[in-house]
Amino acid sequence: MKPVRIRTLQSTDAEALLTFELDNREWFERHIDARGSAFYSVQGVTDHIAAYLADFAAGTWHPFVIEDEGGKIVGRANLKSIDMSERSAEVGYRIAQSACGRGLATLAVRHLIQEAQLHWNLKQLVANVYAANIASAKVLKRCGFLVEHISRQEGTEHDYRFGLSI
Ligand SMILES: CC(C)(COP(=O)(O)OP(=O)(O)OC[C@H]1O[C@@H](n2cnc3c(N)ncnc32)[C@H](O)[C@@H]1OP(=O)(O)O)[C@@H](O)C(=O)NCCC(=O)NCCS
Repeated sequence: MKPVRIRTLQSTDAEALLTFELDNREWFERHIDARGSAFYSVQGVTDHIAAYLADFAAGTWHPFVIEDEGGKIVGRANLKSIDMSERSAEVGYRIAQSACGRGLATLAVRHLIQEAQLHWNLKQLVANVYAANIASAKVLKRCGFLVEHISRQEGTEHDYRFGLSI
C-alpha cells in the first residue's frame, strides 16, 4: 500500500472525482454551500476540472486531491483566489465522510500552507467557516490560524473568518 498522497488535480480525475463528490454530496451540503445539480455528471465534473486547471495555469487557483493508501480520492483541498500582488489566498478543503477523524484535513491544510509558502511565495491565508463547523475550526486553529472576524447577520448562520500570516 502507498502512503496517503496529496497531489495537484489532473484532467484524468473526472470519473474518480465524480464518484467522490456523489458519495459525499449530502455530507458536504450539511457543512458547505451546495453545488448546482449540473455539476453531478461526467460532463459537469470535466468542465469543473477544466475551469480549475485554467485558473491554475493563470496563477489564481491551486487545486489538490488527497488519495488514500489504495489510491482512492478521499479529499480535496484548494488554494483559492490567489492574489500575487497582495500575496494572499483563501484555503478550502473537504474530506470524505468515511475518511474523517484520521487527521486528513490537518494534513491537507499543512500542505496548503507549505505550497503557499514554497510554490507561491504568499504571506497571508484566510479561511471562511460556518460557526457550527467545529471540526473545521479545530483544524484551522491546530494549523496556526486565528479568528479575525465573526459576521453576525439577523436570521442567518454567522460565520468565522480565520487568518494566518506566513
Ligand atoms: C471539517 C473536515 C474537513 C474535517 O476533516 P477531518 O479529516 O476529519 O479533520 P481532522 O481529522 O484533521 O481533524 C478534525 C478534528 O475535529 C474533531 N471533531 C470532529 N467533529 C467534531 C465535533 N462535532 N466537535 C468537536 N470536535 C470535532 C476531530 O475529533 C478532530 O480532532 P482530533 O484530531 O483532536 O481528534 C471534514 O469534516 C469535512 O470535510 N467536512 C465537510 C466539508 C467541510 O466542512 N469543509 C470545511 C469547510 S470550512
